Parts: sequence; C-alpha cells; structure tokens
Amino acid sequence: MSTLFDKINSGADLDRQDLIDILKLTDQDDLERLFNAAYKVKLKYIGKRVSLRGIVEISNKCIKDCFYCGIRRGNINVERFELNKKQIVEGLLTAFNFNYGSAVMQGGERNDEKFVVMIEEVLREVKERTDGRLGITLSLGEQDESVYRRWFESGAHRYLLRIEASNPELYGMLHPADHTYERRMECLHSLQHVGFQTGTGVLIGVPGQSIEDLANDLMFFKKFDIDMIGMGPYLVHPDTPLAKKFPDFEEKRKDQLNLGLKMIAAARLLLKDINLASTTALQALDPVGRELGLLAGGNVIMPNVTATEYRPGYQLYTGKPGLDENSEQSRIALEKTIRQTGETIIYNEWGDSPHYFRRSGKR
Ligand code: 5AD
Repeated sequence: MSTLFDKINSGADLDRQDLIDILKLTDQDDLERLFNAAYKVKLKYIGKRVSLRGIVEISNKCIKDCFYCGIRRGNINVERFELNKKQIVEGLLTAFNFNYGSAVMQGGERNDEKFVVMIEEVLREVKERTDGRLGITLSLGEQDESVYRRWFESGAHRYLLRIEASNPELYGMLHPADHTYERRMECLHSLQHVGFQTGTGVLIGVPGQSIEDLANDLMFFKKFDIDMIGMGPYLVHPDTPLAKKFPDFEEKRKDQLNLGLKMIAAARLLLKDINLASTTALQALDPVGRELGLLAGGNVIMPNVTATEYRPGYQLYTGKPGLDENSEQSRIALEKTIRQTGETIIYNEWGDSPHYFRRSGKR
C-alpha cells in the first residue's frame, strides 16, 4: 500500500495498474489519504476555487432509449414537458443574475430542425442580452457536425457528451442496438473539430462494469485529451430495464458514493488541470456528496436553475435532490455548504479549464 501512496504523493504519472489499485481501495483511512492527495493536486493546478454553471433542464422529450435513464423514450410513466424559448432564456438569465458566469442547457435528445433553430435563437438572444458575458455549455446529445457548428457559431463554447462507457461491449449492454458506440465517438470528434471545449464522462458503478473498465475509462479521457469531465455514480431508476440488474442497490449506496469519489480523485491525479464536475448524482447518495466531491478533487458544481414546476419532470434517476426547491433556495444552500468546505466560489467568470488553454496553445 505504501508504494502506491509513495507514487501518488511523488506526483509521478500514474499508469493503468495504479488506477486499478486506487479504485480497489476500501479502507477508510486509505480513502482519506487518496482524497487528500487528489485535493492537493487540485490546489496546485486550479486553486481553492469552485466554478458554478447554472443548469437549465430544457426538456425531457427524448428520441433515445438508454437502458439506465428515467426519461428514455420507452418510459410511458413520464409526463413529457418542454420549455419554450422564453422560459429557457429566463433560466439562463437567472444563472447570469446569480453571477454564476456560465450556464448549461441540458435536455433529452432531439434533432429536428425546429429544435435546432430554437437552440440557435436562445443562444443568440442570451448572448445579446448578457453582452456576451454569460458562458454557455450545451448538453444536448448526438448531433451532426453541421448542427454542432451552427450552435458553436451562435455562441455556445463548451459541450458535454458522455461516452457513458469507453468499452464498446459495455456500451452495447447499456443501449439498444441502434445507439452505436461508433456514432458517439464520431460526435466527440466532431465537437473537438468544431472547436468546442469538449467534456465527456461515464456512468460509475453500472451493472456489467468492472474496475478495469473504470481504469480504462480514465485512460480513455487522457488519450482523448478532453478538457472537462462530468461523471457520476449510477443510480437506479425503477422504470428502466437496467434496474432489474441491480436489485440490491439500496444496500450499496455507500459503495456507489465511494466509487464515484474514487473516480474523481483518480481523474484529478491523472489529468491534473482539467475541469472536473462534482455531480448532482453524488448529492443524491449523500446530502453533502457534492462537497465531498470537491474535497476529492472536483472543481465545478452545476446548480439547478430550472423553474421548480418543471423539476419533477427531469428525473434521470430517482431520489434526485432539490426537486421542490427554487433556484434561489438552491443557490443559498449551496453557497453555505461550499463555504463550509473552505473553498471559494468564483463568480462572473466562465471558468474554462486550464487544460483547454494549454492544449490549444500547443496546437
Ligand atoms: N444514473 C446516473 N446517471 C444517469 N444518467 C442518465 N441516467 C442515469 C442514471 N440512472 C446520466 C447519463 C447522461 C447524463 C445526462 O445523465 O450519463 O449522459
């Protein structure tokens, strides 16, 4: 054990086997040492800082049928909603007025022209009304490169598209046959090609996944030279096919939380200067899960700025926190708990990943 920690603390580059050893740690003292080491790396490359992105969940209408997701097309128990342009703009401006500096538009996947145009119009309007000062990230799934380009030219500059599982075989087990790994990879390449700061991530602790898969996911992030990571523990949604494969989920909540935190710590140790989100899924497992994520190496939190009435419609998993809160309450609660970690919130900045500048400087 001491050799693993000697290597971690020396700052030497970690290899795949080190990542496997990290992900297998279970002893509470070892976990503390791991999180502290990752936090130190974060302090060195990012500082004692947290960036916020207000997230607007624009719609739960989705053309995809992913086996893990509560808003999959096949879930007939979900009442579908979609915000109109004005409501989306309002959500984004809430983030701006809270001085978050940047916002995310996330929603179920759609690629009809009407939708594509609506997003363009929202982007242009918000850019205009904030004098170009609100940074905008999109998380709207797989699109043709021409669509990504139109959205980029309309003012979005970051895009999140999780690979979900970098192992094509596991990807195949989590999705119907017409959702292909190749297409997902093609989209990630398109995003980088168009010029987006590109973020990706995986489901952590999903049925059928091994520790080796997770170590390979981390190596995948490195090889793909990504700028940001948003990944979180898998949480069961009862109306999905994958729920059957995880019958003892309730007893495994603590393990899921720890695995999520270990992945964050390992990603920080391996990739150092990237933006790393401490995701809401961690908060679903522990009221202070996101704060624990910050102390394990995360530096980004995405507070919900969706109007309260629409929140219940956007449950990718059950037990999602903050459903009955409004954006103001979410903000006040979060600011308080972040302060308790000793971290400083960065306001009114886009909070781009230092890695992006280093990478683009290189090119
Ligand atoms: N548990 C955790 N994360 C989920 N996502 C979808 N369903 C679940 C779930 N049941 C994640 C996916 C997707 C992101 C928007 O939400 O990784 O990319």
